[in-house]
Amino acid sequence: MHAGCKVFLNLRKNARGNKRLHQKQYSTKEIRRITLIPGDGIGPEISEAVCKIFEAAEIPIKWDVHNVTAEGLTKEMADSLYQNKVGLKGPLATPIGKGHRSLNLMIRKTFNLYANIRPVATIPGVAAPFSNVDMVVVRENTEGEYSGIEHFVTEGVAQSLKVITQNASRRISDFAFKYAEANGRKHVTAVHKANIMKKSDGLFLATCREVSYRYPQIKYDEVNLANVCMGLAMGSNQYDVMVLPNLYGDVVSDLCAGLIGGLGVTPSGNIGNELAVFESVHGTAPDIAGQNKANPTALLLSAVMMLRHIKWPYHAERVEQAIYAILRQKGKATGDLGGKATLSEFTQSIINHLRSN
Ligand code: NAI
Repeated sequence: MHAGCKVFLNLRKNARGNKRLHQKQYSTKEIRRITLIPGDGIGPEISEAVCKIFEAAEIPIKWDVHNVTAEGLTKEMADSLYQNKVGLKGPLATPIGKGHRSLNLMIRKTFNLYANIRPVATIPGVAAPFSNVDMVVVRENTEGEYSGIEHFVTEGVAQSLKVITQNASRRISDFAFKYAEANGRKHVTAVHKANIMKKSDGLFLATCREVSYRYPQIKYDEVNLANVCMGLAMGSNQYDVMVLPNLYGDVVSDLCAGLIGGLGVTPSGNIGNELAVFESVHGTAPDIAGQNKANPTALLLSAVMMLRHIKWPYHAERVEQAIYAILRQKGKATGDLGGKATLSEFTQSIINHLRSN
């Protein structure tokens, strides 16, 4: 065997139903290295589930595992990401109102991952307030209210600066239209509060509008944030791709996650021109960490997005269908989705499905 080859050994059933040893061998060239940041809390448990499922699906990935914690980003992790260009990340804990800045924000800023995309689509079998949801939230990731420029003006008065630039607004709106084009979507909506934030959101909106002229085949409109939130809460299906500044994108994407069953099933990707990091959108769930109760679906579906990003649609489709097949079966999901399975039982059900299909 060539040095560096990885051999996937699996038990597969033959035509008579007897188990046989199936062996697939990949050359070093075919194996893709991906940076894996398991994260804090439930992060290591759900990351392990992803690795096991990918191995069972015979996906030729070698994970470069980097344990980034409250200590901050490590040089080794940064080098790994620059080299591999793609990463998968579990949740990282952030102290509220004190201590270091969010490592999540730091990763997005350091690697210039300017677009956060969250596809939100109804998952059959997952109880949710609405059915037939199918839209994509594109959030600007690098500036706006999360620019990190905050100070006390005097005792009892804090000031936080929102920064909107034409460059970042052009980059994110162009990304939204290109995404719509590449994914057969027909409609982009810019979401704003330009009636109040006349200069900052006004610039965001004017730039989105200017970019929209370059994509005449895609319908474009502008809707006030408050109207969008009300419409979504009422089950409106009028949005296809939404593009938003940072803070609004953060809030609206969680609202959208609620429409399809919550953060436990919502994937996301942070994309830049060179690099991309895919992550589950939920937090570290400290209340259930280490108890074998966590739902790995969000991280798994983020890993599926990652497979599509690296243009491995066959593997993406296969893993996605296995996840959906298990979620459709009553009781086989984890407790947060009303099922009875532990994390390891849910993982094993997906693995069994992959091995028998
Ligand atoms: P959280 O998302 O960790 O937990 C909220 C509730 O959802 C908890 O009851 C938790 O048990 C449940 N939950 C979350 N993910 C789950 C999963 N996969 N399976 C089953 N149940 C799940 O939010 P919280 O408690 O506000 O934040 C905890 C920590 O996570 C904080 O330090 C926060 O800063 C961090 N965080 C990190 C994020 C990231 O790395 N992208 C995103 C959000 C929060």
